[in-house]
Amino acid sequence: MMCALVYGMINRSRRLVFLGLAAVAFTPTVAVASPASPSHAVVAPRPGKFVAKHPLAPLRRLKAQGRVDARDLVKLLGEKNASTAGHARRVGHYAKLIAKELGFSKRHVAQVQRYGFLHDMGKLLTPNTVLNKPGRLTEREFKVMRHHTDRGAAILRATLSQDSAENRMAVKVAKYHHKRPDGKGYPANPMAKKVPLEAKIVAVADVYDAMTSQRSYNVPKTKAQAISVLRAIAGTQLNAKVVKAFLRVAKRLPESNGQVAK
Ligand SMILES: [Fe+2]
Repeated sequence: MMCALVYGMINRSRRLVFLGLAAVAFTPTVAVASPASPSHAVVAPRPGKFVAKHPLAPLRRLKAQGRVDARDLVKLLGEKNASTAGHARRVGHYAKLIAKELGFSKRHVAQVQRYGFLHDMGKLLTPNTVLNKPGRLTEREFKVMRHHTDRGAAILRATLSQDSAENRMAVKVAKYHHKRPDGKGYPANPMAKKVPLEAKIVAVADVYDAMTSQRSYNVPKTKAQAISVLRAIAGTQLNAKVVKAFLRVAKRLPESNGQVAK
């Protein structure tokens, strides 16, 4: 297994968006000259060797087929890591409930649900050895994990072809859903005040689901335990107003997240 750089360039609104993603590549490759553009080398599989598909290959195929739907992307994430896709669906569901509780319009509620579905798309490029690791991550593994926000934003920027306010917001939510009100979290910049409300909603949904889900590294908390943690971290790690809205919603939630509608 070796690391490689994956570059994608897309033209959007008369500007080139350059996508450079550090990706995990499994394919033994050699560079050969492209007949169409002799000045550029293309990468071809070494004959006779095992060739595994690149983690972004299905994404490119989806994009080539036309409009990409959020559910298609979650399905793709599920092919890579089933528990991450389940998490994305539940986060979308909780985010939708919070948005409703905050009085968002029907259309805006549906958009927030979509942002929840898409928030962890960067994990397409996080190795399963890190995603599924039983026990605590090392500092190096945390560093790899933290990249999923920037990578998710880059993947969505390159995949969601329509340059709309909704898609731009999906990119921001992917990028900032781990940024905390006290300025901690990641990415290191910008300041917390630049984080949109939609990302703060997804952050609360994300933390609740992470606490109440069976993960390789922890025993799930009960609903009551998770709620008491949310109360404790409101205002520092999570937006206080959004937590308050979630606590009202939580009264109607089942005890087990396995019963949450998909
Ligand atoms: Fe995340």
